[in-house]
Amino acid sequence: MPAKLSAMRADITTLQVDAIVNAANSSLLGGGGVDGAIHRAAGPELLQACRLLGGCPTGEAKITPGYRLPARHVIHTVGPVWKGGERGEPQLLASCYRRSLELAAAHGVRRLAFPSIGTGVYGYPVELAARTAVNTVRATLRDLTTIEEVIFCCFSAGDLQVYQRLLA
Ligand code: AR6
Repeated sequence: MPAKLSAMRADITTLQVDAIVNAANSSLLGGGGVDGAIHRAAGPELLQACRLLGGCPTGEAKITPGYRLPARHVIHTVGPVWKGGERGEPQLLASCYRRSLELAAAHGVRRLAFPSIGTGVYGYPVELAARTAVNTVRATLRDLTTIEEVIFCCFSAGDLQVYQRLLA
């Protein structure tokens, strides 16, 4: 069966999935936005675990337990800072989605949720980011057949509309 792709509006820290993805920075030591929300909800053990990871390059992903979250794992990935689109941003953003899915599959994750990586503090235009997100997830899942469901978790109504249009 092909994987189910959907979009919903929610606080990603509330989702009961096998893994949620964090839009982190390369230090992996926390920050604002969804990163701050995930660390608050997971509790201080998450920061302790992240300290042992030694950071993460842009476009790569690392995994930790979810601690106090309903999600069993957190996959931390680092999106590109938007600098106009000609500094490798689309390739780096695609890599975030691909590497996160590969890591998820390697850990037996069947259901996971992504936030709209890069489109907050990092300034990536949401229309462009969402297109890369949806296309990359669709393409990657052709090879990762154990993943059953991917949720694009949107924080705003406007973002949800963008994702729903692309998934329709
Ligand atoms: N659930 C789901 N989505 C959320 C939540 C939430 N609880 N909170 C925010 N968003 P951002 P970035 C949305 O800025 O652009 C951090 O400081 C938000 O509305 O969190 O990749 C890191 O430490 C937006 O649509 O991540 C880095 O330094 C999306 O999540 C930097 O920000 C991503 O916005 C990363 O910037």
